[in-house]
Amino acid sequence: MSTQKILVTSALPYANGPIHLGHLSGAYLPADIYVRYKRLKGDDIIFICGSDEHGVPITITADKEGVKPQVIIDRYHEINKKAFEQFGMSFDNYSRTSLPVHHETAKEFFLEFFNRGILIEKKSNQFYDDRVKMFLPDRYVEGTCPRCGNEQARSDECENCGSLYDPSELLNPKSKITGETPSLKETSHYFFPLGKYQPALEKYVNEMNEKYGWKDNVLQYCRSWFKDGLKDRAITRDLDWGIKVPVDPPAGRAGSASGKVIYVWFEAVLGYISSTKEYSQKQNKPDHWKKYWQDPKTKYVAFIGKDNVVFHTIIFPAILMAWNESGKEQYCLPQNVPANEFLNFEGKKFSKSRGWGIDVIDFLKIFDTDPLRYTLAANLPETRDTDFYWKEFQARNNNELANILGNFVNRTLTFIHKNFEGKIPGRVMGLGDYEIINSTDSEMLKTLANYPIKVSKLIEKYKIKDATLEIMNLARKANQYFDVSKPWETYNSNREQCEITLYICVHTIYTLAHLFEPVIPFTSQKIFNILNVKKTSWNNCGNPIMQAGKKMNSANILFPKIEDEIIEKQMEKLETTKTPEPKPEEQISYDEFMKVQLKIAEVIEAEKVEKSEKLLKLKVRLNNQERQIIASIAKSYTPEEISGKKVVIVANLKPAKLMGLLSEGMILAVENSEGNLEILTVADSVKDGTRVK
Ligand code: MF3
Ligand code: ZN
Repeated sequence: MSTQKILVTSALPYANGPIHLGHLSGAYLPADIYVRYKRLKGDDIIFICGSDEHGVPITITADKEGVKPQVIIDRYHEINKKAFEQFGMSFDNYSRTSLPVHHETAKEFFLEFFNRGILIEKKSNQFYDDRVKMFLPDRYVEGTCPRCGNEQARSDECENCGSLYDPSELLNPKSKITGETPSLKETSHYFFPLGKYQPALEKYVNEMNEKYGWKDNVLQYCRSWFKDGLKDRAITRDLDWGIKVPVDPPAGRAGSASGKVIYVWFEAVLGYISSTKEYSQKQNKPDHWKKYWQDPKTKYVAFIGKDNVVFHTIIFPAILMAWNESGKEQYCLPQNVPANEFLNFEGKKFSKSRGWGIDVIDFLKIFDTDPLRYTLAANLPETRDTDFYWKEFQARNNNELANILGNFVNRTLTFIHKNFEGKIPGRVMGLGDYEIINSTDSEMLKTLANYPIKVSKLIEKYKIKDATLEIMNLARKANQYFDVSKPWETYNSNREQCEITLYICVHTIYTLAHLFEPVIPFTSQKIFNILNVKKTSWNNCGNPIMQAGKKMNSANILFPKIEDEIIEKQMEKLETTKTPEPKPEEQISYDEFMKVQLKIAEVIEAEKVEKSEKLLKLKVRLNNQERQIIASIAKSYTPEEISGKKVVIVANLKPAKLMGLLSEGMILAVENSEGNLEILTVADSVKDGTRVK
């Protein structure tokens, strides 16, 4: 069997908060299962990750806490690294994008493009917060997505529908720093000509899909971007935190020279390369990374969550293509990007601010790792969003891990210790032995021999959830085999048969320990210790190679049951953090509504209020009666524009004084998507004084 050279990356998580279960299900657990499986297959594989330490997510967290970004990244890099270790993530390297090796790599790419004249210098309008005098890139602005209506869209990108748009298209934008409506201000940036690469990218995606079978959800995202047409993307930002732009800032730029950094997504994806470089350096083989990144035989698989698809199927490949055009060393592009959908928590999105969900570190303070890995694996959001439920976690542990897998190991080992001094009974079952054993045994042996292939087929297609459930099915079959073979009877009636049964049971445990290793590695290790054997390869583990007569260790409980109280306690905690449902809007009676006298009035005079930017002084007429109204609409209407309009007023509002001026009523208006007011008007034919009801 020839081995394959494989490079696997998991999205570099932002070092701005702790990893939660949702992250694990998206880009980490599936990758780890895939990698562990490939290692058992004997492939030459390297598994790369690290912290993403630049960009707005980091600076926003730092702003909130009032500390420097460095404090945030140092804290969460350590926390997340440890959380991943505890969760059994078997990265070969977990790097950081703040390391010099990464800064150099990112600058090398940027300069290569700059010097070749690929980058386009363009002026564009970016959001600007006038109060704090700062450009507001990306997540510093929140507004309504112009495509899908998601109210938490970012300045030029919507997580909900995956679209990218121009900041000027965002509806109802608000600055995250001051909460105010930002203005659009011109600034210069370097753009990467993504549009130019569209034909090549389409060809790439189609080819990879044909050869390696991409997931439907990923293809759909790609096709919709292609359909929209790829636009050039700014790859610099007006920010202080990040990798400084290594060339003179574009002319006519706003802000100081030091205020331009490379856009985080341009450099973060290159973090996969620099993490591999760091790994090579640690191994004292500084060029070793090239064997993975720059060998066309490498199979590169990038595991991510769905919000990262565009960056890994379009932007990163485009960057690598642009590099490869240089004729220098040729980088490998991802062969597959098996992105997962999201895991929700008890029916709702994970939300740190609303205290909804649980972090990995906190989870593993209370429960073991493997039950969590198994539960998540059995419920991966591979084709649609799924949920983590506490009750399901308990059931997966108690009814599957404990009652099926744990029980099978335990009953087999207990029986052998009681009756065979803990030594593996029987003898090696070669294929030639089939005729001397009964059909139940031969069926089981065939099942075992075929199982690694069966599970392989699923994992190779990234159907990791199905693979996990299929492996548990083997443990189910094993219990059935034990039940129908009744070794407790044959022990007295047919000792040879009893030995064969138990030999096959031990062999089954051995196979299970291999197949389950990618999913529940800690338990697998325990089982190998109990069996007192070493691992073999994935391909070999279905063959009966256990040595009869060998002494085994006694079994201990692999999966303690999780009691109701413990789960209930977790659910109660959730109750207390549950955000109160927003009250349905309070209802009022018809009589109450009729108390408000809405009337049509005609504006007959209008003038600016001195020393006020917002106020207009209006004279309105209704039913031959004249009134003075002071309205805060000066930013949206000039006196000339409003004069002569028929407007709706609250006629029985208590008079009040604004800047010393009497106001006898209020004009109704709405805020439009640009944040300007539009007053409600009616046709000229409606007589002033008419009641609105
Ligand atoms: N930090 C990003 C996130 O958490 C992922 C970055 S992936 C990389 O969504 F490729 F850019 F590194
Ligand atoms: Zn959207």
